[in-house]
Amino acid sequence: MRKVTLEQIYTHPIALKYLGRSGQAHAISVAEKALIISEREQVDPDMAVKAALLHDIGHYEWYRDGKWDYDLYKQNDIHAIKGAARAHKLLIRLGEDPQAAKAISLAILLHTDSYLPEHNLKLDPLQQVVAEADTADEEAGGAHHYKTISQQEALKRIRKLDASIEKRMMRQVQTS
Ligand SMILES: [Fe+2]
Ligand SMILES: [Fe+2]
Repeated sequence: MRKVTLEQIYTHPIALKYLGRSGQAHAISVAEKALIISEREQVDPDMAVKAALLHDIGHYEWYRDGKWDYDLYKQNDIHAIKGAARAHKLLIRLGEDPQAAKAISLAILLHTDSYLPEHNLKLDPLQQVVAEADTADEEAGGAHHYKTISQQEALKRIRKLDASIEKRMMRQVQTS
């Protein structure tokens, strides 16, 4: 049984605030991709989708003169670190299992290596699913962060993800 649903996470004011910064459409699209990839890789769908939904919530807004400044961003960004900590706090507050919260938080920490001096991370399967789903949704010039989605459509897709995860977890219980 899942302790926390995606809908609970998505509708929390902290998630709504920070998901908007890097784009809800990107977050939800990466979550949907993570669900599919997690099935192929036999990874826990609940943790994969939660990490994917929250993977970019650590973004800061690097604006200069009203426009996003990529040089400033590249020099100063630590969104994976910030996101891992933010997601962990939110998940624990909602009552997530502490071990799952840690695994989800680590997958967020390692979804990109752009902020690290060395680029040779060894990822575990959960972390790989999240990184692959994120890369699959990327568009040139960071356009994936600017895609928009209505709140209503977002919630509909979040609920559909919740239902799919529950169905898959039920299937696993029945076959084990
Ligand atoms: Fe990211
Ligand atoms: Fe991303």
